Amino acid sequence: MCSDMDRWEEKYRQAEPDSVGDADATLRSLARWFDGAGQALDLACGAGANLQWLHRQGYRVTGMDRSLEALKLACRQPDGRQFRLIAADLETTELPHQCYAAIIVVHYLDRTLFPAIVRALKPGGRLFYKTFNKNLLQQRPGFNPDFVLEIGELQRSFGELKPRVIAEPDTGNPVNSWVVMEQPETPAAGKDRA
Ligand SMILES: C[S@@+](CC[C@H](N)C(=O)[O-])C[C@H]1O[C@@H](n2cnc3c(N)ncnc32)[C@H](O)[C@@H]1O
Repeated sequence: MCSDMDRWEEKYRQAEPDSVGDADATLRSLARWFDGAGQALDLACGAGANLQWLHRQGYRVTGMDRSLEALKLACRQPDGRQFRLIAADLETTELPHQCYAAIIVVHYLDRTLFPAIVRALKPGGRLFYKTFNKNLLQQRPGFNPDFVLEIGELQRSFGELKPRVIAEPDTGNPVNSWVVMEQPETPAAGKDRA
């Protein structure tokens, strides 16, 4: 039987380095919220198009993904030699606390990771999270419903963070939801001690 991970490895193995494409269009439209100061982390970074954009913004970038084939492609991005790339299963990986000025997650959903994302943001650090919501199920009834968001779920789940820009759903593309949220300068007392 072919696991989900085998399918990702095969997809990336067959991809050409120059077919990786541009960074996510929503992320590119949010440049003013991601000014490039400090370290940025891309969780489930895939072939690294968003890492390349973050690097050009000026961040020192780290990408994490479980697929070695994806990370090989990320390394071959124009500035890929300067990326820190970590092969990691995000279901079991610890993230450092209060480390990142920016964290992005695009089209990967693991709700158990949400508290670790909050802890990993520095005070003032910003999160961009974009993934599919339940509207997708009307177009693709076979899609696993565990991997789509409820409408409004991101803002509710990251309630400790300050909402900056919210699109749940994105009116231009209603199968996606996305948010930009910010770690308060003084994170909620006790929340970062777990
Ligand atoms: C839809 S792709 C998104 C890639 C990238 N964020 C983008 O927008 O192009 C999902 C990614 O999640 C990665 N992934 C799936 N399960 C994972 C896990 N448990 N730990 C780390 N990465 C995982 C896959 O290897 C794949 O690169």
